[in-house]
Amino acid sequence: MIAYKIREGIYWVGAIDWHLRLFHGYSTDKGTTYNAYLILDEKITLIDNVKAEFTEELIARISSVIDPSKIEVIISNHGEPDHSGSLPKILELAPNAKVYCSSPNGVKILNAIYGDIPIIPVKTNDTLSIGKRTLQFIQAPMVHWPDNMVTYIPEEKILFSNDIYGQHYATAKLFDSGNDLATIIHEAKKYYANIVLPYTKQANKYNDLIKDFDIEMIATAHGVIWKDNLKEILALYDDLLNSRKKEKAIVVYDSMWGNTDVMARNIMEAFMEKGIEVRLYNINNTEDSDIITEIVDAKYLAVGSSTLNNNMLPKIAGFLYYLKGLAPVDLQYIAFGSYGWGGQSIKQISDFLDGIGYKPLIEPVKMLYNPTTDGLTSLKQAIFLALDQQK
Ligand code: FEO
Repeated sequence: MIAYKIREGIYWVGAIDWHLRLFHGYSTDKGTTYNAYLILDEKITLIDNVKAEFTEELIARISSVIDPSKIEVIISNHGEPDHSGSLPKILELAPNAKVYCSSPNGVKILNAIYGDIPIIPVKTNDTLSIGKRTLQFIQAPMVHWPDNMVTYIPEEKILFSNDIYGQHYATAKLFDSGNDLATIIHEAKKYYANIVLPYTKQANKYNDLIKDFDIEMIATAHGVIWKDNLKEILALYDDLLNSRKKEKAIVVYDSMWGNTDVMARNIMEAFMEKGIEVRLYNINNTEDSDIITEIVDAKYLAVGSSTLNNNMLPKIAGFLYYLKGLAPVDLQYIAFGSYGWGGQSIKQISDFLDGIGYKPLIEPVKMLYNPTTDGLTSLKQAIFLALDQQK
C-alpha cells in the first residue's frame, strides 16, 4: 500500500473501509474511509489517524514515503476512535512526536481513551509553523464531539475539516471529481443529517469562523476530498446550516394487516395531488438513517402505526427515538393509524412528536379496522384544507 500525493509534499495516507455497514445506527451501505494526511516539511506532520483495525494500512502508506519514526507533529482534529485508534501505535513508532489537539476537550478525550500521551493543547487561531507551512487551528466544539477542530494551511489554502463535509463513502478515487457528484452530495447530506444535525447551532458558529478563509481544497476525514466541486458542497452546507426546507412530505409507517398502509398511501396521495414532493417509507424495508436524510429538508412528516399490545409497533418506536436524537427542526406532522380496540398508538405518536416540538398539520387520525372510503376522503380533505390554509 502506498501514499497518494494530493499536493506537492502532502499525501493521503488513510484507509478505505469497504465493508462497514453500520455506524452507531447509521446505515453505511457504501462503506467509508478514514482519511489521514502526511505533510513532508521541516517537521514531518501527520493530520489525523485511522480506526485501530486499519493501523497497518496507515503505517504502510506512511512508510512508502518516509520512515514513520521521523513524524514530529501529530494533529488530532478529533479524538473519536475512527480518527484516533491508530494513535498509540504511531506514537510508539514516532517517539519524538507530540500530539496537538483542542483545549480542553481534546486533551480530556485523548487522555481518557489513551492515558498519558505527549499532548500540546491548542485553541482557535493558535498557529504552528512546520517549516514552509503554517498550521492554523479552529475549534469546532460539538461538531461532532466536544473536541472537534479543523486545521487550515494558509500557504496551501487547504482546510483539513475532519468530520465536517465528510461522507461515509468508500472510494478508491480520492477527489470529488473522480466520483459521481450526485452520489457524493447525497452522501454528504446523509452524513450531515445523521451526524452533524443535532449540532447545527454549533456548526453555524464554526462556519462564521471560517467564512472568510481562502479555500482551494477541503480534505475531509471521511469520503472524498473536495476540490473541483467546492461550490456544491458549500452550497449544500449553507442550506443545511440554515435549515432550508422544501415543499416536501415524508410518510413513515408500519402496518399489521395492511390498513395503516392504506391510510399511508392516501396521505401520500393527498400531498401528491397538491403538487407537493412526497416520499413513502414502510419502516420494515428502509433504514432510519435514509429516512432522516429525506426529512432534513422536508416541511411535513406523517408517522403511522397500528396498535400492538397497547403500544405503537416497535420499529416505529425505534424510528421516533432516532428522530428525537437528531431532532430536525420545523416539521408539521400527521399521526395516524388503524386500530382494532385500544388504538393507543396514534396518541402515543402524536404526544411524542409534540414532545420534540413539532406542530400538528391536522388532528391525529385513527380508523377502526378497514379504512372506509368516506373516512379516507375525509382524511384527504382535512390535509387539503390544512395545506390551503397555509397559503
Ligand atoms: Fe468520524 Fe465524529 O468521527
